[in-house]
Amino acid sequence: MGKAALFLLAFTAYAQAPTSQRVATMSQLMIDIIYPTSDAIFYIEREPPKTDVDWERVRQNALTVAESANLLMMPGRARDNDKWMADAKLLLDAGASAYTAAIAKDLNAMVALNQQLYEACVTCHMDYRPNYGRRPTGAGQKKQ
Ligand code: HEC
Repeated sequence: MGKAALFLLAFTAYAQAPTSQRVATMSQLMIDIIYPTSDAIFYIEREPPKTDVDWERVRQNALTVAESANLLMMPGRARDNDKWMADAKLLLDAGASAYTAAIAKDLNAMVALNQQLYEACVTCHMDYRPNYGRRPTGAGQKKQ
């Protein structure tokens, strides 16, 4: 096979390679994946994990939070290649630390991570979530 044919073959394979594809909207990703799994970490003290099975669930939630940051960084989801990525990285770091703590079954470390995790959510919401963190102004608007 000549070089040109080889190149063509490689190029064709590349062109046909499947790419990642969004299934959920941003809102669905927040509500169905990020919100429930992060809540399990935020409120871990309400029902502290005791058994191996409890910790397994904590670990699964922490891993989901961490990896969901990568879903936010996906082409087509990332709003830009700058602040958005930095904000998502905060979630990745907090989630990854929670995952490590869950593997170690370290409840104190999980609780200590709460603030870091909370700030990851709030930072991006202040930057990108419409109308987030802005006080309602003017007459006729619903009081919060
Ligand atoms: C990198 C950015 C980013 C991070 C990090 C992030 N969010 Fe969001 N979130 C958004 C954006 C953008 C919206 C608005 C989505 C829309 O309305 O289309 C949103 C909306 C939401 C909503 C409202 C969804 C709705 O439609 O009612 C919830 C709940 C939410 N986020 C939870 C969280 C929690 C909890 C965390 C942290 C554990 C988090 N988010 C971290 C970007 C982010």
